[in-house]
Amino acid sequence: MIKQFILVSIAALTMSACNNPKEIKEENQKEELSMKEEMELNLVYSDHHSFAKPDEAVVKHLNWVATVDFDKKIIAATANYDIENIRGVNEIHLDSRNLKISKITRNDFEGDLEFESKEHGEDLGTELIIPITAKTTAISITYETTKGADALQFLNPVQTAGKKHPFLFTQSQAILARTWLPCQDSPGIRFTYEAKVTVPQGMLALMSASNPTEINETGVYNFVMDQPVPSYLMALSVGNIAYRKLGPITGVYAEPEVIEAAAYEFADMQHMVDTAEALYGKYRWGKYDVIVLPPSFPFGGMENPRLTFATPTIIAGDRSLTALIAHELAHSWSGNLVTNASWEDIWLNEGFTVYFENRIMEEIFGKDFANMLALLSYQDLQDEIAWLNSEGREADTRLRVDLEGRNPDDGLTGIPYDKGFYFLKLIEETVGREKFDAFLNEYFQTFAFKVMTTDAFLFYLDQKLLNENPSWVDAIRPKDWIFGMGLPDNCPIIKSDKFEKVEAQFTLWKEGKNASELEVKAWMTPEWMHFVRMLPDTMTEKQMAGLDKAFGFTEIGNSEIQAAWFEKVIPNNYKVANQATEEFLIRVGRRKFLTPIYKAIVKSNDGIERANKIYAKARPNYHAVSIATLDDLLSWKAE
Ligand code: BES
Ligand code: ZN
Repeated sequence: MIKQFILVSIAALTMSACNNPKEIKEENQKEELSMKEEMELNLVYSDHHSFAKPDEAVVKHLNWVATVDFDKKIIAATANYDIENIRGVNEIHLDSRNLKISKITRNDFEGDLEFESKEHGEDLGTELIIPITAKTTAISITYETTKGADALQFLNPVQTAGKKHPFLFTQSQAILARTWLPCQDSPGIRFTYEAKVTVPQGMLALMSASNPTEINETGVYNFVMDQPVPSYLMALSVGNIAYRKLGPITGVYAEPEVIEAAAYEFADMQHMVDTAEALYGKYRWGKYDVIVLPPSFPFGGMENPRLTFATPTIIAGDRSLTALIAHELAHSWSGNLVTNASWEDIWLNEGFTVYFENRIMEEIFGKDFANMLALLSYQDLQDEIAWLNSEGREADTRLRVDLEGRNPDDGLTGIPYDKGFYFLKLIEETVGREKFDAFLNEYFQTFAFKVMTTDAFLFYLDQKLLNENPSWVDAIRPKDWIFGMGLPDNCPIIKSDKFEKVEAQFTLWKEGKNASELEVKAWMTPEWMHFVRMLPDTMTEKQMAGLDKAFGFTEIGNSEIQAAWFEKVIPNNYKVANQATEEFLIRVGRRKFLTPIYKAIVKSNDGIERANKIYAKARPNYHAVSIATLDDLLSWKAE
């Protein structure tokens, strides 16, 4: 059980939300009258996925000294922690998993400490119980990572674009930071850090911190993150990496072979940052850079502070998949500033971020475009609910999920994203955009560098926004959304002329019109996605070949469209796409694409056998996160 109390001054907040000078004056007077009018947010929560006891003794700062060994595929490190023994307790609890710990020391004791390692199973790992006293202000742990470091992926040169140098990246969210760093691995616990990382000469190291932009001769790099961050935002990337500045505070990192294309693709990045700031307040992290990783990165993107990690599959050549950058950038507010207290509240991170992402896209590409994205999200949501129901997982269609005794990855469905988005959209539509934006601005400001629980958010929402008009709560029914299953019947309905046009063309095609005669000229990625998703489950060879001839789906450079196409044609035994599918599955490790494609293969003729054959070849290329999901999906027996 973790307890925190956050005092929020309502008067001061109301004031900061007004732009009108006259109103501010009035508000100032009001504030004087009601200086004591404070509301106490009672944040009591438990994180089932960490053994830390931060209300007893907590890590405040980390000084990490590490060497990356590409031959042994390990990191050898000493982690020096400044700690605060809040309650004068006699032990501090850290999370770890599959680490080889050789030594633990502390400032007020000579020699090595005897510590306790308590095993908690495959997912949660080993609880380290380290003896301390009221005088302890620092502890030090010397350790090495092992083959079981699921956060890390060491790539051989063949898995990179350049094919000459190895590569390493980390993925810490949700509870994998503990596989490369003993830490209090709970999203509500924040610490600052500095690091000194030694890598082979000729390589660059980058972290979620202040970063170098050039390879140096020594192979030693220093990092500082002086704003407190939770452990899941700890990140490291090492490789032959180049940098290209894009704007005053923005830039992109990638292998030299990819940097040109990356710089072209993300040309809008500075504009996105400016747009995001205009919406919800100052960008608080100094720089915003993106690193384009090799294709085995298991996610689309990861919002590591100051340095988003991204898959190269968003490089389509036409800047059409950059909503993902808007998403990761938006996390600089929702998630990185205001952070879900536990993984059961992940909708507070992801739902807010999808909403924010949509607003950025609307500002930059217009309402029509944002509406199309919202409709794709609606389709995803319908599919996800249907799938979870079919699996007997109705409870996981709640926004607030129960993950006790489960892996937090189980909560990582489309629900926190898409249902979260529609819930916030509903609030926006009910109270009006102006009020909702003022509310969100305050929310990010007030809770910056703090945690948020679902209950505290509901209370705050009520006090700061919905209280004003009693009919709003009835119109929104927040509790139905958060604690109820499925999709409430007051879900906003979004209309899109553009999608209606796509539907009209689709109907013509279905009635027999040649694909090459359809009017598709100005279609952008969302329109193509809508079209491909509408394709019937059963298609003839002639239909598929016709579409392919007209639109080149099988070889298309846009990974989203290509993956959606594979998903449709594979169960129809469209042999033409076999080789491209196989190549895609071997090259790309992004789980969001892999899962539906493997599922589609399993559905085709001789599917299980073929899926396993491809998987045997592809599996060594994948990150542990994707392997875990696919081993399960394909009932793979690890040797
Ligand atoms: N933070 C998430 C990725 C994540 C969530 C990793 C939970 C591990 C546990 C990231 O911001 C994300 O949502 N990525 C999406 C892209 C987005 C545009 C929906 C992805 O990777 O597909
Ligand atoms: Zn996200």
